[in-house]
Amino acid sequence: MGQAWGFRRYGGPEVQEFFDRPDPVPGRGEVLIRVDVAGVNPLDHLLRSGLVSGLDGGRPFPRVLGMEAAGSVLARGEDVDGLEVGDAVFGFALTGGGTYAETTVLSAPHTARIPAGLSATVAATLPVAGTTAVDALDQLGLPAGATVLVNGVGGGVGLAVARLAVGRGLRVVGTGSAGKREYAEAVGVRFVDYSAGDVVAAARELFADGFDGIVDLVGGASLRTVVPLVRDPRNVIAVGDVSVSELGGRFVERRLDRESLERAARLALDGVLAPVVTAVHPLADAPAALTTVENGHAVGKVVLTSAEVDQ
Ligand SMILES: NC(=O)c1ccc[n+]([C@@H]2O[C@H](COP(=O)([O-])OP(=O)(O)OC[C@H]3O[C@@H](n4cnc5c(N)ncnc54)[C@H](OP(=O)(O)O)[C@@H]3O)[C@@H](O)[C@H]2O)c1
Repeated sequence: MGQAWGFRRYGGPEVQEFFDRPDPVPGRGEVLIRVDVAGVNPLDHLLRSGLVSGLDGGRPFPRVLGMEAAGSVLARGEDVDGLEVGDAVFGFALTGGGTYAETTVLSAPHTARIPAGLSATVAATLPVAGTTAVDALDQLGLPAGATVLVNGVGGGVGLAVARLAVGRGLRVVGTGSAGKREYAEAVGVRFVDYSAGDVVAAARELFADGFDGIVDLVGGASLRTVVPLVRDPRNVIAVGDVSVSELGGRFVERRLDRESLERAARLALDGVLAPVVTAVHPLADAPAALTTVENGHAVGKVVLTSAEVDQ
């Protein structure tokens, strides 16, 4: 039995509540873990709202929030390869366990061991922000020296993309509101404050010929504003807005498997992929943690902890 934070029906933050739940029994291809750290992501509140109910598999209520975690394996279901009881692991709760909880089940093919030297806090941010950053830049496939605009640089995915892009030798400009400047510049990015005026003009002051690629984390009107900055619209990769195809760009192609997680962990150990964790909340503060992300202006990654962990 452990604490979990979730919802009994779709809706706004008012439908969220803590409840006790028995430890989930790991099914075929699942591992039960003690959750040490859980990542907080925009998709968590979108799933709670019911706006993307096609993505939740019609699972029964109550549902527990959260889709990524790091912790240690307590038990294995059938057909689990490569993970043993006691292993420190990180991965996706794709089968509906939810990770804002003291224990949960992760999908074993979408879970990997945490390599020695990598903290649980960083590992918990790799399934969503970390591998998304790798996938977006791989899909863009730009060589060192090319120019890339990261639209929405200050959030969980944006800072991870920016740091990785700089590590690959790209010349990076990031957009965000004024408070994101110091974070963007700290990872080696030139910054455009979208709240200060004309984003396109400010970006052209930095690269008059425009950009070789754009990674967009914002979508909507903001995406449409920045697209003219790219020389070839096929080199616009959007992470959250599928309507990018109407503009000639591409939606990110995601790889969620163990190999992808292991690769992200190696890059994190090498120091080129480290999502910037700016807020670590105890599980009891899950409401405040998700509110920060739901307000749409989070800095870096927000995580929840149910244990004393290294950061
Ligand atoms: N397809 C996938 O597998 C996948 C994976 C991960 C995330 N996503 C999606 O990708 C998006 C970003 O995720 P995230 O985790 O990075 O979100 P996040 O941590 O909430 O960050 C979003 C950032 O965008 C900034 N922003 C908002 N309006 C902006 C504008 N007009 N111009 C520039 N920046 C703006 C926000 O702060 P400021 O406004 O203060 O700068 C904030 O820092 C979400 O839609 C998420 O659902 C998709």
